[in-house]
Amino acid sequence: MRLLDAGCGPGSITLGLADAIGPDGQAVGIDASGKSIAAARALAADRDIPNVRFSVADIHALPFADGTFDAAFIHAVLQHLPDPLAALREVRRVMKPGAVIGIGDADLDGSLIWPATPALDRSIRLMAELSRAEGGSPHVGRRLRTALHDAGFSPTAASVIADADGASEATMRTGAFWAALHESPPFLAHITALGLATEPELHAMAAAWRKWGADSGAFWARFWCHAVGWAPLAVP
Ligand SMILES: C[S@@+](CC[C@H](N)C(=O)[O-])C[C@H]1O[C@@H](n2cnc3c(N)ncnc32)[C@H](O)[C@@H]1O
Repeated sequence: MRLLDAGCGPGSITLGLADAIGPDGQAVGIDASGKSIAAARALAADRDIPNVRFSVADIHALPFADGTFDAAFIHAVLQHLPDPLAALREVRRVMKPGAVIGIGDADLDGSLIWPATPALDRSIRLMAELSRAEGGSPHVGRRLRTALHDAGFSPTAASVIADADGASEATMRTGAFWAALHESPPFLAHITALGLATEPELHAMAAAWRKWGADSGAFWARFWCHAVGWAPLAVP
């Protein structure tokens, strides 16, 4: 089996996939970031995993012939792209007929928070606005199945997992993390330069996160969306 991990980052998942397909298979990780690919190569060498290789490449222009791969994996990548469908079409091009693809992405609207306040709601919306302003697709999670279908995969199936902070240690840690982020000088400068919020608003959001983290009933659940699809056996 030849497997492609597109947007592999530092390669930790790619190495797990290489292990899963066994020594006769080959996993290939590509990423646009040379730094990530260098880290991935170092990790593979460190763990002595032979059936994996990594290359710097753009998911929109893959350096592989049509029909090269039996399986493809794209994790936490489409949400960062302005046109996820264009990327999926290119990955589909390098997949064999009958090959399987698995994708996973957040949906930045998929969140349940309690106790809610206007400042917390605003902060959560801000993350989606920031993603869009940076050229991402913050609501791609709910559309994964449609995107696979539009890229030519059939059949497809989608599912979701939820992650939650629901105990004091976790809510204190998460509240402190988001508070620190909203008050960090680079974040303040970036958000205000984009015109997405003012400094006083960001400080109010930081205070709201700190208060939320210390609340004995605090709870925050987020959705992570998954989809699988198959390249049709006969090209239509
Ligand atoms: C959040 S990381 C996910 C890394 C890995 N898939 C994981 O789940 O751990 C997103 C990755 O997508 C890569 N990426 C973004 N745009 C890309 C593009 N056009 N082509 C290839 N990789 C890209 C980034 O460099 C980054 O490593």
